[in-house]
Amino acid sequence: MKRTEIKQLFAPSVDGMVDSDINVKGWVRTKRGNKNVAFIALNDGSTINNIQVVLNPADFDEDLLRRITTGACLSVDGRLVKSQGAGQSVEVQASSIVLYGEADPDSYPLQKKGHSMEFLREIGHLRPRTNTFGAVCRLRHNMAYAIHNFFHERGFFYFHTPLITASDCEGAGEMFQVTTLDLKNLPRREDGSIDYDQDFFGKQTSLTVSGQLEGELGATALGKIYTFGPTFRAENSNTPRHLAEFWMVEPEMAFYDLDDLTALEEEFIKYCVRWALDHCMDDLQFLNNMIDKGLIERLKSVVETDFVRLPYTEGIRILEEAVKNGEKFEFPVYWGVDLASEHERYLVEEHFKRPVIMVDYPKEIKAFYMKQNEDGKTVQGTDVLFPKIGEIIGGSVREENYDKLMTRINELGIPMKDMWWYLDTRRYGTCPHGGFGLGFERLMLFVTGMANIRDVIPFPRTPKTAEF
Ligand code: 4AD
Ligand code: MG
Repeated sequence: MKRTEIKQLFAPSVDGMVDSDINVKGWVRTKRGNKNVAFIALNDGSTINNIQVVLNPADFDEDLLRRITTGACLSVDGRLVKSQGAGQSVEVQASSIVLYGEADPDSYPLQKKGHSMEFLREIGHLRPRTNTFGAVCRLRHNMAYAIHNFFHERGFFYFHTPLITASDCEGAGEMFQVTTLDLKNLPRREDGSIDYDQDFFGKQTSLTVSGQLEGELGATALGKIYTFGPTFRAENSNTPRHLAEFWMVEPEMAFYDLDDLTALEEEFIKYCVRWALDHCMDDLQFLNNMIDKGLIERLKSVVETDFVRLPYTEGIRILEEAVKNGEKFEFPVYWGVDLASEHERYLVEEHFKRPVIMVDYPKEIKAFYMKQNEDGKTVQGTDVLFPKIGEIIGGSVREENYDKLMTRINELGIPMKDMWWYLDTRRYGTCPHGGFGLGFERLMLFVTGMANIRDVIPFPRTPKTAEF
């Protein structure tokens, strides 16, 4: 018999299927009952919902029934009927069961009781089978799909930038090296330095920290592009918001000024959040019940409220005022400081009580490529700051003037030989342009209400962990 996905049994069209014979396959969440009747809750991952399988133990082999335990995988044939019990509208009255795979209750780690997030990370190979991670994974798929839709509908082109690169976009030196050199026997030049001419690419290469620089090459040819792929940062940050391998969405647009840019940032996030509300309510409801009681309300409020535009200088003034009025921060506040997440969260959660797009940062705390303002002190950088998350987006209008860009590159001592191709965009047909990067897992944190970034990506990479 052709398999029916459990998701279909929770759709309105299920009415037409009642009293027909169907086949369902999936993993046992729970089994309970007595010698007259047994109930098996079966889940196949297509939805958070389990279908209830009902059977009369007298009709089945005793040994088979004994081996059906939490985690086992089954194929069930039976009649779909209206359910007598509370909690579900239909159930399957089993006529025959094939046991694909058992799950020894003495060793299978996912038993009915709730497990801590820390424990589930240790069994990352099995945690997609839990309700919580099923919901997170389905939402992750939906957010990726929404992102492609958003840009496609607006005429952006998906532009593939390399993962292996010889340039450090953010200039922070937090790159993982890529090499095939024998680390126990490195080739040396006469001055003792490593001879990268002999390395695979004939030069020193790393995993990318951002697709932006190549993205700018795309935008200054195709007009509007976006990248969406893995990025890597060897920063030793053990926080609930940092990964060493994360996914980033980076749109880059020709002829955009700062207002265009912040408008797109706001529209983009709202589109993704609205998508989750429109398409993933079952999973959101589950996460709202189990993980974060304020989740759905928070998502709805973000879709409905205008984001604040806040110049950095004004933000510092508000924070200094707060300190004067007795607010205690761990880190000092003064003009020129790179804001800590406690400061960002104060602005968003305490002061404005809605998302904030901060603009016009001091040039010293931002990357070399940001467009310099007339004041000589600030650049047209934008960070989107979110409740509970802090920075969710970082972006800027780019410095399109060749001389100004060169001056900044020289001030910062960025090696020129790696940057010639980037500078060519400013030498030939330069144009005003800008873009931003959204940390996909930061968006996932917001949309799922999960507290730790390790729990919104199937296989997290963080300092000292690369399991699975
Ligand atoms: O602010 P960042 O470093 O900006 C850039 O990389 C720019 N080149 C983007 C651009 O303009 N095209 O990173 C962008 C976003 C951050 O706002 C944050 O959401 C996320 O990427 N991010 C991280 N997410 C998880 N783990 C990390 N270690 C992250 N570092 C940055
Ligand atoms: Mg940033």
